[in-house]
Amino acid sequence: MTLIDRYAVFGHPIKHSKSPRIHHLFAEQTGQSIEYSAQDVSAEQFSATAKKFFTEGGKGLNCTVPLKELAWNYADHKTERAQLSKAVNTLALQADGSILGDNTDGIGLVSDLIANHAITLAGTRILILGAGGASRGIIGPILDQFPQAVVIANRTADKAVNLAAEFHSKASAPAHAPYLHPIGKGSVTGCGFDDLKNRQFDLILNATSASLSGQLPPLPAGLLAENGNCYDLAYGNEPTAFVRWAQENHAAKSLDGLGMLVEQAAEAFFIWRGVRPETRPVIELLNSERQL
Ligand code: ATR
Repeated sequence: MTLIDRYAVFGHPIKHSKSPRIHHLFAEQTGQSIEYSAQDVSAEQFSATAKKFFTEGGKGLNCTVPLKELAWNYADHKTERAQLSKAVNTLALQADGSILGDNTDGIGLVSDLIANHAITLAGTRILILGAGGASRGIIGPILDQFPQAVVIANRTADKAVNLAAEFHSKASAPAHAPYLHPIGKGSVTGCGFDDLKNRQFDLILNATSASLSGQLPPLPAGLLAENGNCYDLAYGNEPTAFVRWAQENHAAKSLDGLGMLVEQAAEAFFIWRGVRPETRPVIELLNSERQL
């Protein structure tokens, strides 16, 4: 009897997760035989349920809201990008029986921006809205692309200042060229929304959870540079409040996080299976199923 390798996404709520669909499409496309389910798991249940899953032969887990920090604690060892982001969205059983934790969210976003939308990050001014877990997960991979400057703006300004300091302090940039950095970490500052007046950015990323409730951080007029782009990490069957703001402010591209979702899944699939699926057809299929 051949046992099919088992994977799952844990989260709460999880009913509307697109992950099982995405991973089954990847498996079909690459000729891999896997089973991938979605399980509603609360924070209280997480550790015991993950342990049971792996003990019973499960090979890998995706973890989503509100479990990413718990998954970070659960992993026996972590990749550098997971270590920095203090959140894990992918757990992978290793040959020695240990569990590796990784975070593929940031690389998923960067791949979607660069490979799918031809948006340049190097040398540009990037604004990240929000200073919670979603922001923490993307800062490292963004800094790795050598932007000119990254500003994190948050409703609670202190949180943005502290988060920026954490990443900035990973290494110090040369004083004559603050954006140049040997390992790509540097030139990141934090502030409140009030401090955004009279500033301009080439790319604005919305990583607040405001979108989910149809709300928008207070953004001053003129914030987006001419030909600038906007990206909401959230997505839905309808344009999010931030995507609508981007359209009203004449963004060259007003994007939501569906591409990031597929790209982070592709990276997890690669970690588990050693095979890189093609993401474009999957993004196109999921896009065609919603009328934006
Ligand atoms: P996540 O893991 O999704 O980032 P989180 O860690 O709870 O969730 O962080 C939510 C982020 O969205 C925070 O930056 C929060 O701002 P505060 O730190 O000031 O709470 C931001 N946020 C949530 N609702 C918001 C709103 N209505 N307007 C502006 N920012 C909001």
